[in-house]
Formats: sequence, structure tokens, C-alpha cells
Amino acid sequence: MARRKVNGILSIGITVFMLGFSFAGPGKAQAEDVKELIETKCSTCHRFSGEPKSRLELKAPDLKWGGNKYQHEWLVGFLQGKEEMIYPNGYRWDIQRKKTDHMTLDAATAEAVAQYFEKNLLDPRVEKDAFSIDKLTQREVELGADIFKEYSCLGCHQVKEDGKKIGGPISTTLYGAGKRYNFDWLFRFALNPQDFTPHSGEYLADISPRKLRHLLGYLMAQGVDNYPLHVPWETQAFKNGNPDKGKVVYKQYCVQCHGPKGDGDGVGALGLTDPPPAKHSQMALSELPMDYLYNVIYYGGKSVGKSPNMPDWGLTIHGQDLPDLIAFLRANFKGGDAPAPVASAGGDCSQPRKTKAAPANFQNKQNPVPDNKSSIEAGKKLFHKDAKPVACMQCHGKNGDGNGPLGGGLKPKPRDFTCSKMMADLSDGQLFWIIKNGSQGTGMMSFKNLKDKQAWQVIRYIRSLAK
Ligand code: HEC
Ligand code: HEC
Ligand code: HEC
Ligand code: HEC
Repeated sequence: MARRKVNGILSIGITVFMLGFSFAGPGKAQAEDVKELIETKCSTCHRFSGEPKSRLELKAPDLKWGGNKYQHEWLVGFLQGKEEMIYPNGYRWDIQRKKTDHMTLDAATAEAVAQYFEKNLLDPRVEKDAFSIDKLTQREVELGADIFKEYSCLGCHQVKEDGKKIGGPISTTLYGAGKRYNFDWLFRFALNPQDFTPHSGEYLADISPRKLRHLLGYLMAQGVDNYPLHVPWETQAFKNGNPDKGKVVYKQYCVQCHGPKGDGDGVGALGLTDPPPAKHSQMALSELPMDYLYNVIYYGGKSVGKSPNMPDWGLTIHGQDLPDLIAFLRANFKGGDAPAPVASAGGDCSQPRKTKAAPANFQNKQNPVPDNKSSIEAGKKLFHKDAKPVACMQCHGKNGDGNGPLGGGLKPKPRDFTCSKMMADLSDGQLFWIIKNGSQGTGMMSFKNLKDKQAWQVIRYIRSLAK
């Protein structure tokens, strides 16, 4: 019964929205005209007042908060039919599972409607600057992308990955979110979706303010070219980093595990063995890329596939203390004793190896990228420079022999790719799996950011190093 009724209303709507609409001429749109347009046309589908209601009882999204919700440019574009529709299977997927066109307005009318919205459709619950995503970093956007998946958002909303749409097409697409939403509205919506779209299939996540910042920051960067990201280590605070003051911070927070001289022998080390706290005195923290060093301290070991026993210090160490601490680490830890040279090819160069075996279906994988110069060159570039969070060379060494500047303090040592005796026993699939997932409890972090093709190119390069 109910269903048939809604169907009826909807078909009236359809005849309306096929019409384009324009006032007598550009620039002539007056507030009165706009009001009439809204009352006679838009209101046949949208509601502009009343209590929030389930989508399953509506014909189109509520626009009571239309003056807060959208970025002006997006709204004007959408009303002219220049933006992609937002519901991939139509607003009412329960009735009509297809995308429909929206009525279009000419530029001047669209502008007048947007201005009318911004003047008259303001939701008093939406506060200006109630929450901040200022100084958003690249890392925060990446963490937001993880949270988007971890908290099921992808189950119901589509985003783009490598240009491809992914996710359940249930509610609005979010790959253009950064061009569409006003941030203040988005934040208020996130506090409780049921204040806006109750009983519509919506979902409220259990999320801390910091995670919310990452998630909303990620959304506001979607679809925006060159979103202005903050690079902390390029700020004046880092230029002013004071190693002497940083030494005090190290004593307050780091010595308990890493030891007074960074030998990895703080009191915590008595119970932490798998893996033990890093031996900073053996690591060239001076050479470690700044983004990696900053992020591993700010977001902790688990943010780079390492032990969660290395805490994330972002909430604990504030203000100038962090730049000072990092200045101290870089001034003080420049790599340890030269690593013992490994036996050269010919003798038994095999390293003790306890690395977990990749699942069986990986072991037989063939390297799909061609064995030629261009694959090897592409892999070489990643190995020496471009792989994030840290270029492979930093640990596996310039020649791939496992003697990189950051490898010295690591136990087990980074793999020696020049040792053909050992490498011959490792399948391409094994190498691929460890590159993507890391080797838990060792220095080998996960390189999730590498695309499959890139990982295979690196493997071509690694294979070319065997002597
Ligand atoms: C025939 C019904 C119909 C009419 C008439 C109509 N709309 Fe819509 N409108 C829709 C539907 C359905 C959607 C959701 C479409 C989508 O993007 O998938 C929508 C979406 C919108 C959105 C984006 C909403 C959001 O946040 O998801 C705005 C803004 C909008 N319409 C404004 C207007 C204005 C202004 C008018 C009158 C000039 C109007 N609409 C007339 C059906 C209608
Ligand atoms: C179970 C499905 C589901 C999940 C999971 C889900 N959503 Fe939604 N979301 C909805 C529905 C349904 C709505 C209501 C809007 C509509 O479709 O009518 C909505 C609304 C929204 C809106 C406002 C859309 C608009 O323009 O009016 C945003 C933004 C949003 N969700 C973000 C998220 C984020 C971020 C997450 C993860 C924390 C998430 N959603 C998880 C189903 C879901
Ligand atoms: C509760 C013990 C603990 C404390 C306190 C601690 N760390 Fe760690 N840290 C670890 C452990 C364990 C590892 C080894 C992680 C791994 O290899 O998986 C580690 C590793 C590191 C690394 C090396 C990361 C890498 O990529 O190998 C750095 C740098 C670091 N810690 C810096 C700090 C700083 C700076 C502080 C003080 C603000 C600190 N740690 C305090 C336990 C701790
Ligand atoms: C921070 C140091 C570090 C970085 C950076 C690093 N590795 Fe490793 N890697 C290690 C260590 C330590 C091991 C030994 C792990 C073990 O024994 O399980 C290892 C082991 C490996 C293995 C051997 C897997 C096996 O099954 O034996 C491969 C392959 C590998 N790394 C590839 C890479 C590639 C490719 C990169 C760059 C994209 C890279 N590594 C970056 C430290 C590092």
C-alpha cells in the first residue's frame, strides 16, 4: 500500500524535473521569484521545513539546512546540471534503482537560488568553526582513508581509489565531498546523522575527536586538486629545534624504553623482547627521512606496521617539545659502529632467516611485469628513492647487501639481496607478500602504499642484484 502511494507521487515529480527552468532573462531573478520557484517547483520534491524524516518517506533530500550544507560553487554548478548526481542508484533505491536527471536552472537563476539558500535556509545547530581541521598533514589524510574503511563507511558510500570507484553505492558518493560540503555542516552532521537523516540506513560511528579530524580531513580533501596540506617539519618551530632542550624531553619520555644513551636498554626493555625497543645509538636517525621520523613518533609504531609498544606521542608531547626532541635525535644518533661486512658471494652468505612464509597461493605467483630494463629501472628508482615511508636502500643498502644506514641496529638484519645462494630459495610471491605486509617484529615495515605493479618492479630490481 504505502509503496504504491509513494510511487504515485514520484511519477508526478518526474514530469516536473524533466523541465529546465529559467527566469525571463539572466540577472532578472529577484528574491520573490526565487521564493516562488522554490514553492511551486522545488517543493514538489524537497522539503524546506519540518522535522527530519526517513529517506524512505521522502522524494528528495531535505533542504532545510541547504544554506549551511554546500559550498557555493558546487551548489550553483549542481543546479545548472554541471555536477554528477550524488546518489548512484537514485535517491529512493527502494522504488527506482536508477540514477535520474535533476531539473536544471540557468546560471543566473542558479546563483539566485544559492544566495536565497544561504540567506534563508540556515540551520541554527550548525556552528561556525566548532571543530578544526587546520594544518592537516598528508599522514592524517592517509589515516583518515584507513578509518573510512575500518569504520564501514566504504560499505555504504563510494570513494575513488586510483581513479576507480569503490564501495557500496547505497547513500551519497563521497569522492567529491571536498568540493561539495561546507565543513561546519559536515562536522555537525557527523556528531549525529540522526539529527538530519533518521531511519534512512544511516550509521553513527564510535570515534574519538582525533580520529574524527582524520576522517573529516580525508573527506574534505576528496575531489580537491592540491588540497593545501601542512608540512610540520618545514615550519619555523622545526628550524628553531633545540637539541639541548630535546635531550630533556628524551629523558622524560624515551629513556624508559630506549635507555639513557639510546642503547635500547631502558627498564622497559626487560619485558619487551619481541621486538625490543630500537637501539637508537645504532641507527642513523640523522639520515632518516623527516616525514618517517616525525610520523613514527607522532603516530607510533603501529602506524608503520611496527610494534604497538612504540607509543604514539602526538597527544602527549606538545608544542616546541616535539621539534626539540627531533632536533636532539638527529644531532645525537648518526649511526653506530660500521656494520660487519657480510661474506661475499661464493661463500655461504645466507643469513639466519625466520621470516614467516607467505600463504600458499602467493608462493606460486609469477611476476607479471616483464623482465626488461624499464621494469628494473622503475624498481631501482623506488628502491633508492621513492618508496614510502622509507626507501628500501636506507636499510637494504645501496648495493642491496643489507648494509644501509638504518640497518645497523636492526636484529634480524635487513635481507642481503646480493646473496644468490639464499635468494634462489625465495619465491617471487614470498618477496611480494613481505613487501606488502612487512615482517612482524623486525625492521621490515609494510609497504601498503606501493601499488602491486610497483612492488613487482622492485622485485625485478632486487633479483637483478644477486651475484
Ligand atoms: C522531481 C523531483 C525534484 C525536483 C522538482 C527538484 N529536485 Fe532537487 N533533488 C531531487 C533528487 C531526487 C535529488 C537527489 C539526486 C541525486 O543527486 O542523486 C535532488 C538533489 C538536490 C540537491 C542536492 C541535495 C543533497 O544534499 O543531496 C539540491 C541542492 C537540490 N536538489 C535542489 C533543488 C532545487 C533548488 C530545486 C528547484 C529549483 C529542486 N532541487 C527540484 C529531486 C528533485
Ligand atoms: C550502513 C550504511 C552506512 C554506513 C556504514 C555509513 N553511512 Fe553515511 N549515510 C548512510 C545513509 C543512509 C545516509 C543518509 C543520507 C541518505 O542517503 O539519505 C548517510 C549520510 C551520510 C552523509 C551525509 C550525506 C548527505 O550529503 O546528506 C555523510 C557525509 C556520511 N554519511 C558519511 C559517512 C561516514 C564518514 C561513514 C563512516 C564513519 C558513514 N557515512 C557510514 C549510510 C551509511
Ligand atoms: C614503552 C616503550 C617505548 C617508549 C617509552 C618509547 N619507545 Fe620508541 N620504540 C619502542 C619499541 C618496542 C620500538 C621497536 C618497534 C619495532 O621495531 O617494531 C621502538 C622504536 C622506535 C624508533 C624506531 C622506529 C623504526 O622505524 O625502527 C624510534 C625512532 C623511536 N622508537 C623513538 C622513540 C621516541 C622519540 C620516544 C620518546 C618520545 C620513544 N621512542 C619512546 C618502544 C618505546
Ligand atoms: C627500516 C628498514 C627496512 C626498510 C626501509 C626496508 N626493509 Fe626490507 N627488510 C628489513 C629487515 C630487517 C628484513 C629482515 C626481515 C626478516 O628477517 O624477517 C627485511 C626483509 C626484506 C625481504 C625478505 C623477505 C623474506 O621473505 O625473506 C624483502 C623482499 C624486503 N625486505 C624488501 C624490501 C623492499 C622492497 C623495501 C622497500 C620498498 C624494503 N624491504 C625496505 C628492513 C627494511
